[in-house]
Amino acid sequence: MDYTRLFRPGILATRPYSPGKPIGEVQRELGLDSVIKLASNENPEGPLPSVVAAVRAAAAELNRYPDAACHDLGLALGADLGRDPSWLLFGNGCNEIIDMFIRALVSPGENVVFGHPSFIVYPLTCAVHFECGRPVPLRDDRHDLPAMACAVDGKTKLVIVCNPNNPTGTYNTAAEFHAFLADIPPEVIVLVDEAYVEFVTAPDYPRTLELLDAHPNLVINRTFSKIHSLAGLRVGYAVAHPGLIAELHKTREPFNVNALAQVAAIAALREKAETVARAARNREQLERLAAELAALGLEVTPSQANFLLVRVPGNATSVTRELLARGVIVRPMNAFGLGEGAIRISVGLPAENRRCLEALKEILA
Ligand SMILES: Cc1ncc(COP(=O)(O)O)c(C=O)c1O
Repeated sequence: MDYTRLFRPGILATRPYSPGKPIGEVQRELGLDSVIKLASNENPEGPLPSVVAAVRAAAAELNRYPDAACHDLGLALGADLGRDPSWLLFGNGCNEIIDMFIRALVSPGENVVFGHPSFIVYPLTCAVHFECGRPVPLRDDRHDLPAMACAVDGKTKLVIVCNPNNPTGTYNTAAEFHAFLADIPPEVIVLVDEAYVEFVTAPDYPRTLELLDAHPNLVINRTFSKIHSLAGLRVGYAVAHPGLIAELHKTREPFNVNALAQVAAIAALREKAETVARAARNREQLERLAAELAALGLEVTPSQANFLLVRVPGNATSVTRELLARGVIVRPMNAFGLGEGAIRISVGLPAENRRCLEALKEILA
């Protein structure tokens, strides 16, 4: 049976999402004992002991379905954000939220505008949903917000702004974002993906939570995967006007956020001081790594996130392969549309960053 005849053309033309290689796979394939992963912008520090304890305790009740409404998590996060829980929508990672918005809003012939290169899930999700993606090239590695506003037409349902942007680490300022919002018709939803917001130090970064009341078309998308070290459990959220959230609830899978993710996220929210300390440690390591990469003669894009975009001489795929042979997993950026010469390095623990630098030094020599 030729199954390809059964599927929509957009699906046949799409390649599956290819994540950073897991450590175990590289160990098996290359016969290496020690492998470090700096490829998926994860938090190199594990979940906090209080979070692990909460997960352990909740494991005893896994015979029950999770709370479909994420009631307790909604109260905890709502209190932190100063919003009623009716402003919140939780997802199986914030990837699911992106998917929910695209599926719920876009009919055939309509489109979604996003920057390119940006988070690869936007074009992939659009490709399988009526090929609705309308990428707008970055300018100098940053979102070109005026060009994105110009790309919006009568068929645009959603604009996605990744801020800070993955994979460049760059950001758009509050002034730029305010001007952009003013240019977008009120019936077009603007989803700002702030997966890395907790790592940002730039004082002129937009405070989007404060814009929600004046902009009922604004959606803020965030995650527990990065700063809270919970990528493996899958929990993310959107903050938006309750009218919009109420419609989105109709489209989600009934128990989309698992029980362990819910208790882990609540426990993580209680660890405020440690969360701030983790962001500070990331910043310190990121700045050190950036300086040392620059000292190797490499071009490093200034980053507000927990990763660095680095231009390497020659072919990024072969540099990545040589790093892999030395037990260091990073991400070549060709699949993201950044050409052949760019890799993305996630900030690791100090010893991991040193190992990555040493390996790069060897390869470049
Ligand atoms: C910009 C951006 N958005 C969303 C995600 C996915 O987050 P989650 O793990 O919550 O699905 C990532 C993960 O790398 C990301 O870089």
